[in-house]
Amino acid sequence: MAGSLIAKNNVKPFHIPVMSEQIALFSKTPGKYIDLTVGMAGHSRIILESNKENLLLGIDCNEKSLKLAGEILKGNRFSGRYKLVYGNFREIGSIASDNDFVPAEGILADLGFSSEEIAEPIGLSFEIDQPLDMRLDRSYRLSAADIVNRWSEEEIFKMLQMVQERKAGAISHAICRNRQKQPITRTVQLAKIVSSCFRKWQPIHPATKTFLALRIVVNHEIDNLETMLRSSFEILKEGGRLAVISFNSLEDRIVKNSFREYAKAGLAELVYKKGVVPTDTEKKNNPRSRSARLRIIKKTEEKK
Ligand SMILES: C[S@@+](CC[C@H](N)C(=O)[O-])C[C@H]1O[C@@H](n2cnc3c(N)ncnc32)[C@H](O)[C@@H]1O
Repeated sequence: MAGSLIAKNNVKPFHIPVMSEQIALFSKTPGKYIDLTVGMAGHSRIILESNKENLLLGIDCNEKSLKLAGEILKGNRFSGRYKLVYGNFREIGSIASDNDFVPAEGILADLGFSSEEIAEPIGLSFEIDQPLDMRLDRSYRLSAADIVNRWSEEEIFKMLQMVQERKAGAISHAICRNRQKQPITRTVQLAKIVSSCFRKWQPIHPATKTFLALRIVVNHEIDNLETMLRSSFEILKEGGRLAVISFNSLEDRIVKNSFREYAKAGLAELVYKKGVVPTDTEKKNNPRSRSARLRIIKKTEEKK
């Protein structure tokens, strides 16, 4: 279905949404839904399709993504039922109230980056030689190059520990040693420095965790996530649901702990006790889904 809509608007299908079935189920009850991470509008389309009475507010902090999402959604099929707004999901409280989406029936965040963004020349991938920047939102001040060239060895070490990088000590030392010879400005240059700290073959690229840590810090991902979780819960309708798909254990732990606290306090119930991971078929068809975990909570309805 997605394919035909995309073909009609002549926009290439870059991005396959993860856990489509669960998101279709999540958005069955008619109401106001907020997609905090519109990206290529994959989940937004599912939300609009799962109930024809659904209204959608789509948010993204990347203007290019938002423009492309507009192209994908346009046409009569969904007309009048959605609105796309540029913004950071940490501002969800004010964005939702300015657009009359409070209280919301459902709120979804599919964290991270779309395949389209990974292909953008901002240095997110260690496999493509690009400037070491990583800023998804141009309003962020610190780039990845600023961190590796200016932060102290101790600060870089702590950043790498955050993502449980076993070689945090060796990598932070190698970065500081190498930058004395010449500034570290390119992705492949950094990937080589990091790889030099590993002697044995690794099942994943040795620079994976270093790049993840930089991306998280540059884009304020932890702070944004914590603020977004709190604000989203506040604007949720009683009986409404908050769904978050995360792709690394650091983010998933934050989501899990936050949801458990709401459940413990009797303010919400966990829709899935352990979170849901994709089936083998989904992983095969959509490699991006491999590390995904979906968690959903339902806000408690006050007894009248
Ligand atoms: C994984 S993609 C979402 C893909 C989308 N669910 C789909 O099916 O097409 C994540 C999106 O979230 C956006 N994003 C990341 N951090 C954000 C933030 N703090 N506020 C708003 N959007 C953000 C990215 O620009 C990206 O477009």
